[in-house]
Amino acid sequence: MSEVSPYGSGPKASTESRQIKRVRTHHLLEMKQRGERWAMLTAYEQYAAQTFDEAGIPVLLVGDSASNNVLGNETSLPVTVDQLMPLVRAVTRSVRRAMVVADLPFGSYQASPEQAFHTSVRFMKEAEAHAVKLEGGEQMVPQVELLARSGIPVMAHIGFTPQSEHGLGGYRVQGRGDASQRIVDDALALEAAGAFAVVMEMVPGDVAAEVTKRLTVPTIGIGAGPSCDAQVLVWPDMAGLRTGRMPRFVKQYADLHGVLLKAAQDFAADVAAGAFPDASHTF
Ligand code: KIV
Repeated sequence: MSEVSPYGSGPKASTESRQIKRVRTHHLLEMKQRGERWAMLTAYEQYAAQTFDEAGIPVLLVGDSASNNVLGNETSLPVTVDQLMPLVRAVTRSVRRAMVVADLPFGSYQASPEQAFHTSVRFMKEAEAHAVKLEGGEQMVPQVELLARSGIPVMAHIGFTPQSEHGLGGYRVQGRGDASQRIVDDALALEAAGAFAVVMEMVPGDVAAEVTKRLTVPTIGIGAGPSCDAQVLVWPDMAGLRTGRMPRFVKQYADLHGVLLKAAQDFAADVAAGAFPDASHTF
């Protein structure tokens, strides 16, 4: 009898998986029309992606937040297209139903619509992404127009845009007071350009509610209050793998750090005591 692989099970490519319907942009639009809210999570590798897909999360974002959640950087700025590519590929290969969105990293799309096109094509050809996401308001309209015209679904991201952290003067709520009109104008312009959804990060709840009412396409909030059509969280924040001070908009649904810590401590103690492996783990 063959043994179970100790190196992981790899992605499943069964007949059953081919029968499951992939989430498409029109499904998200229909959910908005029906008033159904949904959740998006980041994912950066195989097991988390498989688990979130099994949980029925319809959209997984391979965020540039991989930079500060996987690669050990302080911010999302240093991550490159070449570093994100294998992560996107791992996630697309591991899900059967979820739409996988590849985040375009800083510097890979701002220079021109053509640059955005070539980066997006790489994510779709080499990593089989189903859509891409880019940050920025009205100034990104030419990029979104070219991508949408080329058959590449684009998710927009406005409000606080982490790639512009230095330009925005740090992590701060965007669209307060008179600046609220800017958020509404950005969202309307990006929808008109062809974006299939708009992420709003750290935007006052009433402004996000107004945008959600004015747009036909779904809005996805992160620190944008309860009125958005969908909500997104970075998964190590959501599941408590990350510890320490959290942004106000994070809710932690588990204590994965605690679970992993205990498992590692128990394993080490068993090894030190000679309790592992025992006869049942020995050939
Ligand atoms: O990179 C990311 O994780 C994101 C989400 C916070 C929306 O852009």
